[in-house]
Amino acid sequence: MLAVNFFAIKDISKNFGGLMALAGVSFQVERGEIFGLIGPNGSGKTTIFNLINQYIPLTSGDILFKGKSIKGMKTHQICHLGVARTFQVVKPLKRMTVLENVMASAFCRVNSLKEAEKLALETLDFSNLLPEKDKPAKSLPIAGRKRLEISRALATKPELLLLDETAAGLNPAELDETMELIRRIRDRGVTIIIVEHIMKLIMSISHRVHAINYGQTIAEGTPEEVANNKEVIEAYLGESYT
Ligand SMILES: Nc1ncnc2c1ncn2[C@@H]1O[C@H](COP(=O)(O)OP(=O)(O)O)[C@@H](O)[C@H]1O
Ligand SMILES: [Mg+2]
Repeated sequence: MLAVNFFAIKDISKNFGGLMALAGVSFQVERGEIFGLIGPNGSGKTTIFNLINQYIPLTSGDILFKGKSIKGMKTHQICHLGVARTFQVVKPLKRMTVLENVMASAFCRVNSLKEAEKLALETLDFSNLLPEKDKPAKSLPIAGRKRLEISRALATKPELLLLDETAAGLNPAELDETMELIRRIRDRGVTIIIVEHIMKLIMSISHRVHAINYGQTIAEGTPEEVANNKEVIEAYLGESYT
């Protein structure tokens, strides 16, 4: 983890017509890290991802990738720079096959159908979805759809990958497979910010964890430090904290 200032959000805020969904959150992520982002439902995690890839505009603050502000860029430009994300509610192009879905993303990096197919097949092989490549995306069960979502992000060859609840709804065996896949992605040199409700996953996989509640930071540190933080425990009372 050499390069400091690989990625940072600085004092970012988001106001949805009077509702302050985020109020001045800052953190830095170093190259090669798996950085966990946690918080109860509605605390602003997905909003942070939506702001990072400029799916929605910032109200205030700044976002720096490799030392440069990406504020105001278009979503596809950010993808080109090397930042990819998955969606909490998976969004496959339902009528297309699994392969076609991943090819559509590969065009972020390549220009021809042939190259897109090659990159998509490599990506599907990496994420263990190759046997499903000719099935319509909509026919996949939830675990397959989640892996397709990750594959689509990977086909853009990201340096920074944002994973939004990719393990939600999975059974224990599928959860283990997802953790293994996330580690292999990290081993390829991809830096990861992961939003996850399943504490076992986030605490065992992250180098550092950042916790928010009501759009504000409540803790940051090692998984142990954050898991034992009083404000974090209180924020999660009433939610399943397993
Ligand atoms: N597009 C939107 N318009 C209005 N309010 C939104 C929008 N997106 C999120 N919110 C609100 O912002 C808050 C944070 O939501 P979100 O980031 O999805 O939380 P989390 O991912 O942590 O569960 C919630 O109160 C939510 O209702
Ligand atoms: Mg969310």
